[in-house]
Amino acid sequence: MTRLRTAIPGPQSLELQARRKGAVAAGVGSTLPAYIDSADDGLLIDVDGNQLIDLGSGIAVTNAGNPAPAVAEAVHAQIDRFSHTCFMITPYESYLEVCEQLNDLTPGDHEKRSVLFNSGAEAVENAVKIARHVTGRQAVVVFDHGYHGRTNLTMALTAKNMPYKHRFGPFAPEVYRVPASYPLHDGLTGPEAASRAIAAIEKQVGADNTAAVVIEPIQGEGGFIEPAEGFLPAIARWCRDRGVLFVADEIQTGFCRTGSWFALDHEGVVPDLITTAKGIAGGLPLAAVTGRAEIMDAVHVGGLGGTYGGNPVACAAALGTIRTMRERDLNAAARRIEETVLGRLRAVAEKTGIIADIRGRGAMLAIEFTERTPDVAARVAKACHEQGVVVLTCGTYGNVIRLLPPLVIPDDLLAEGLDVLEGALLA
Ligand SMILES: Cc1ncc(COP(=O)(O)O)c(C=O)c1O
Repeated sequence: MTRLRTAIPGPQSLELQARRKGAVAAGVGSTLPAYIDSADDGLLIDVDGNQLIDLGSGIAVTNAGNPAPAVAEAVHAQIDRFSHTCFMITPYESYLEVCEQLNDLTPGDHEKRSVLFNSGAEAVENAVKIARHVTGRQAVVVFDHGYHGRTNLTMALTAKNMPYKHRFGPFAPEVYRVPASYPLHDGLTGPEAASRAIAAIEKQVGADNTAAVVIEPIQGEGGFIEPAEGFLPAIARWCRDRGVLFVADEIQTGFCRTGSWFALDHEGVVPDLITTAKGIAGGLPLAAVTGRAEIMDAVHVGGLGGTYGGNPVACAAALGTIRTMRERDLNAAARRIEETVLGRLRAVAEKTGIIADIRGRGAMLAIEFTERTPDVAARVAKACHEQGVVVLTCGTYGNVIRLLPPLVIPDDLLAEGLDVLEGALLA
């Protein structure tokens, strides 16, 4: 089936791209500058009428569809009633409902509370605020290859210099980085990698100075790195024994992306605080910190919040998203995607020497190339883009292609996208 009418990007996109240069700051990039006019779950239709197959979900956001009918309906209904009051001024019920859902769905059956924000970075900032306030300690421990956002504190928490940190310092103090678990490269078991990280914390920071360990259960921008089995439980145990808060950043991994509501569910790890965003609200800006009631309630009134945090339209979208995830069992859908994609990619890997690893869980899947430079990943991504398939790259060395299809993508569309990717890998 031919989905493309023009070269990608097409003439109208190129015109917009030229106009953009005079209007939009150059520091904002676009992976594939085909300007989008509409979407239909796994398809993005650009202004030239090209149908692009979406294997990126706007970086793990449109998990439940684009647009998901229940989200569109909820947003329309809410915007007709009121668009904003500021929850800190005059509250509304949907904020409560989103918090109740988060308290119910996040790992652990203890009593929880939530607070809502606009972006992932803002949620991470606030998790650190809460952890410092409650523990009375200042140090925050993060990991090699970690990514937590682009604000000043979250840049400090993020590992990679280019493009995230370069010439944007000085960064927030009291942030300490320790080695992560990267099974392909370190060859360590989970408990061994955890002992290495814990030794670094104890030697270089001191448990008594540490407010929180902030960790992505599967590292996203760093390369879709799944830690070896046992790593996360060992870190969580150490935190519990030392009064350090275990903060899970599930902004990319959350909301059915890995075949369970949260990636921590896989090993039964229960965090003290968890940050969520991206997949929570079908693309409307919403983020949250959810945590143990006694921790969350320890902060004084007015200490947390923001003008837009938990905006009613975003809350309506979140409730529509969560309903869709439950009704369509998108955890099962993510697991089916895993089976399809891993099966196909592993078969491809046997035919070429350029692939070092095929990995991932649910619909968060990756190809790491043997070459530790961005060249091969960039070439493969470019070939896919030219054929109308949206794939993203990631990794500390830029040598990883990551796949994040919407969980509702039809099987035939996924297969079509994988055909193109396979062709690009074997070219
Ligand atoms: C794990 C993780 N944390 C934090 C963020 C930052 O989220 P946002 O871009 O919404 O600020 C991201 C975004 O990619 C992420 O993947």
